[in-house]
Amino acid sequence: LRLAGAAGLAAAAGCGETAGETLSSELRPPAPFTVPLPVPPVAVPVRPGRYELAQRAARVEIIPGTTTEIWGFGGTFPGPTLRLRRGERAVVRVRNELPVPTSTHLHGGVVPPESDGYPTDLVAPAGHRPPAAPGGHHGADGTAVTWHDGAKDYVYPVRQRAATLWYHDHRMDFTGPQVWRGLAGFALIGDVEEDELPLPAGERDVPLMICDRAFAADGSFRYPALDPALRETPGVRGDFMEGVQGDVILVNGAPWPVLEVAAARYRLRLLNASNARRYRLALTGGARFVQIGSDLGLLGAPAVRDTITLAPAERADVVVDFSGHRPGAVVTMVNRFGAGPTRDVMRFQVTRRVRDDSAVPARLPALEPAVPGDAAARRRFDFRRTGQGGAAAWTINGRRFRPGEPLARPRLGTAEVWRLVSDFHHPVHVHLARLRVLARGGRAPGPADAGWKDTVDVRPYEVVDVLARFEGYRGRYMMHCHNLEHEDMAMMADFEVV
Ligand code: C2O
Ligand code: CU
Repeated sequence: LRLAGAAGLAAAAGCGETAGETLSSELRPPAPFTVPLPVPPVAVPVRPGRYELAQRAARVEIIPGTTTEIWGFGGTFPGPTLRLRRGERAVVRVRNELPVPTSTHLHGGVVPPESDGYPTDLVAPAGHRPPAAPGGHHGADGTAVTWHDGAKDYVYPVRQRAATLWYHDHRMDFTGPQVWRGLAGFALIGDVEEDELPLPAGERDVPLMICDRAFAADGSFRYPALDPALRETPGVRGDFMEGVQGDVILVNGAPWPVLEVAAARYRLRLLNASNARRYRLALTGGARFVQIGSDLGLLGAPAVRDTITLAPAERADVVVDFSGHRPGAVVTMVNRFGAGPTRDVMRFQVTRRVRDDSAVPARLPALEPAVPGDAAARRRFDFRRTGQGGAAAWTINGRRFRPGEPLARPRLGTAEVWRLVSDFHHPVHVHLARLRVLARGGRAPGPADAGWKDTVDVRPYEVVDVLARFEGYRGRYMMHCHNLEHEDMAMMADFEVV
């Protein structure tokens, strides 16, 4: 996909719903639906409320018959699932045993600014000397870097409702390659309100981290900025300005896996953890999704959905009922935006009958209404490519990321209406805030925009109005495009809650 200005962008948008360029794998991937679905381990606290996650390299078998070096929290990809409870503060000590600095962000978390994973708040490998400047695009402007030697304690007060969150690296200019290598995991918040619902639970509550990767002939991950010498060249992404996509779809780190299921209801927490790929998920064999939640927790009522579209970082909490299927039946989850190998995602193989007491209640706990009249301010943010050729850049309101220079100063405890305007596919993520889509293209939002969100899928030449509520903490946060290559190419801005 080579783009030639606005006309090319519009054409691309119309046809493909793609948001990047696809790297091909150099080795032969396995036949789909032959590798069992792994479920990430649940993080075990070292003592109540205290977790330790070491970021380290490990060799794992992703493609059967070969090994891949990953960088993972706890040495796994996905990292261990943090099971957090509303009202129970958690402290996560992240120890960096990698060769590069990191910053860890709890995506969707209402977290104090010093624990939010600011891109220049770096945890360095023990003994590394801080650079004079963070490097990358921003090396020249003397941005201050905070430097933690070897480890940092991230404090998560967990005062928010039950939701499917995730955590991932957020290092300035290198989030794309570092997440691509595996630095991501789930953080599931539970609460009493959710416990009281008869939703499928236990081993029938399955988080599914969906992402794409490409593999080199030796089994390593291919990524445009990861050359064999691990030379780090920020901003150099070759022709991958639109974003990096792979041709192998992984779920929980396994290629096109298969999960054996009972003929019963399952709760599936779908996360698009891809750098740039968008998915339109659907089920074969007449199965449908009953969506019960989105990014920041349950919807007010379940919604039957034939397809679920997820831009990078978006989540959908769904229940799928396999009880109409007899043992031996299969249901495949496909990606209607994909072609060839990226059309398949994973398969459910029904193997047994089981007693099922779960249910999806017709009503879920009421959602607070989103009232635009409450807005204390209205602002407009324009996500756009500027410049040509080597000078091309992804910008917000004409600016590349300038750490420490906020574009907005919302007041704590207020709501604002933010108008998001874009020239391409930009999944817009706002830290700290809770978002509700008020209008998309001048119309009332559809089911894809339901519920409280932290990431909003803004498509080419769309105008999306969101209500943003700022609660919890004062301080410096950021908003950015969650296409990780766009983010690394500085499509990010600070805002400061005052
Ligand atoms: Cu999931 Cu600022 O990111
Ligand atoms: Cu973008």
